[in-house]
Amino acid sequence: MAVRVVVLAAGQGSRMKSELPKVLHEVAGRPMLHWVLDAAQSADPTQMVVVVGHEAEQVKASLPDGVEWCLQAEQLGTGHAAQVALDHLGSVAGDTVLILSGDTPHLAGATVKELVGVRERTGSAAALLTSVIESPAGYGRVVRDGWDRVVGIVEHKDASTSELTIREINAGIYAFDGDLLPEALSALKNDNSQGEYYLTDVIGTFADQDLSLNGLKAEADQVAGVNSQDHLAHANRAMRRRIAIEWMQRGVWIQDPSSTYISATSEIAPGARIYANVHLEGRCTVGAGAQVGPDSFLTDSVVGDGARIWYSVVREAKVGQGVEVGPFASLRPGTVLHDNSKAGTFVEMKNTIVGEGSKVPHLSYMGDAIIGTSSNVGAGTITCNYDGVDKHETEIGDDVNIGSDTMLVAPVKLGDRSVTGAGSTITKDVADDALAVERSAQREIPGYSARVDARREEKARRLADEG
Ligand code: UD1
Ligand code: CA
Repeated sequence: MAVRVVVLAAGQGSRMKSELPKVLHEVAGRPMLHWVLDAAQSADPTQMVVVVGHEAEQVKASLPDGVEWCLQAEQLGTGHAAQVALDHLGSVAGDTVLILSGDTPHLAGATVKELVGVRERTGSAAALLTSVIESPAGYGRVVRDGWDRVVGIVEHKDASTSELTIREINAGIYAFDGDLLPEALSALKNDNSQGEYYLTDVIGTFADQDLSLNGLKAEADQVAGVNSQDHLAHANRAMRRRIAIEWMQRGVWIQDPSSTYISATSEIAPGARIYANVHLEGRCTVGAGAQVGPDSFLTDSVVGDGARIWYSVVREAKVGQGVEVGPFASLRPGTVLHDNSKAGTFVEMKNTIVGEGSKVPHLSYMGDAIIGTSSNVGAGTITCNYDGVDKHETEIGDDVNIGSDTMLVAPVKLGDRSVTGAGSTITKDVADDALAVERSAQREIPGYSARVDARREEKARRLADEG
């Protein structure tokens, strides 16, 4: 018995009030649809198809390899969408057809597996996921008879006053018997308040035919559908918590999970410490014993073992083992800090490689630079990498000592063990072992303060005379 998966994702999601198709809104940095596809994967399907419609191109472009799509040109309802999917799948006789909505990002793989398992074990016509929730408004309600058997689903907009009091809702996730689904779908009618073909009516049809059904109750969190920006924020909060808990269970110390934003595609080694208000976006990797935060934003970056990053922004950068970043550093794309190096307070780097043990401790901009090993870049040093037209490289050798406030006008190269005098503007290459100083000679004017005092007194006298 094979499992064939259908994910409904053709709707506009008009309540989101957004240009982006609903299923592409991100939860913990991933489109909602991908979370659903992941959960579906747990049922070991032989085929997965996503029904696309509204902004179909964008949704198609987001699909992972191996996932098929079919087009529902006009969104005539979930029943119609399922029909379009069956046309794509061809015969599903002997199989289980697992139908999910693209807007339930919290659905767990284990739940999906259980749903399919229940249907296959009992040989029922359908198993549907339900949940008893506090505020069922908007959802379809599960109607049961005196023996607690599911007898149908009634949509909120079609429900009677008494049906509206039912708190068991339909999650929109079903495992159907492939022998029975096609005929039930083709018999659907759209004579309801929304003029749509409801997939939910298939459940009533089966009950009317006295076929057996399973209603599997899941936790409310798992089945919550995202229909508005408010739901999306809620889903993100819940996912954030879930991800933080997973990392804590693996031995990561997280100071304040409620203010920690870890993308689903980031990895943290046990023993790392994540302080409050840290964002790890895209694909980030944090090594063992590393400390990140408080107040840091990292995207697509690697943090080596034992590195420390605080109050900093790090984008597409590689931070080696034992490196110190910040406070208040900005590492821009292409920055590589080799082991035990440093980008200190108010330091900005872009497309720069810092060799092992080299330090850029204070108030510097390093752009398009290559720094060797064990060099020190004095406070306030800047690479003048842009001549107004082109960007140029600065090359700094090993064991170089750059004096404070040196302007390195690129292209320029400082040899190994070279030194620059504080305040120098270096425009020419410096040889190995040389000292380069570029400053005008210091002049001294003796007794200067006394002359200023005299002028001050003179002015005060004049003002007094005039007054
Ligand atoms: C649906 C269920 C409701 C259930 C709820 C759970 C129906 C009739 N109602 O309502 O019982 O409580 O989900 O979240 O099924 N879609 C299409 N094509 C269409 C219409 C919808 O692909 O023509 C897709 C949407 O993109 C979405 C999913 O189907 O991913 C559900 O559609 P939505 O409009 O959100 O249904 P609900 O009103 O939430
Ligand atoms: Ca929905």
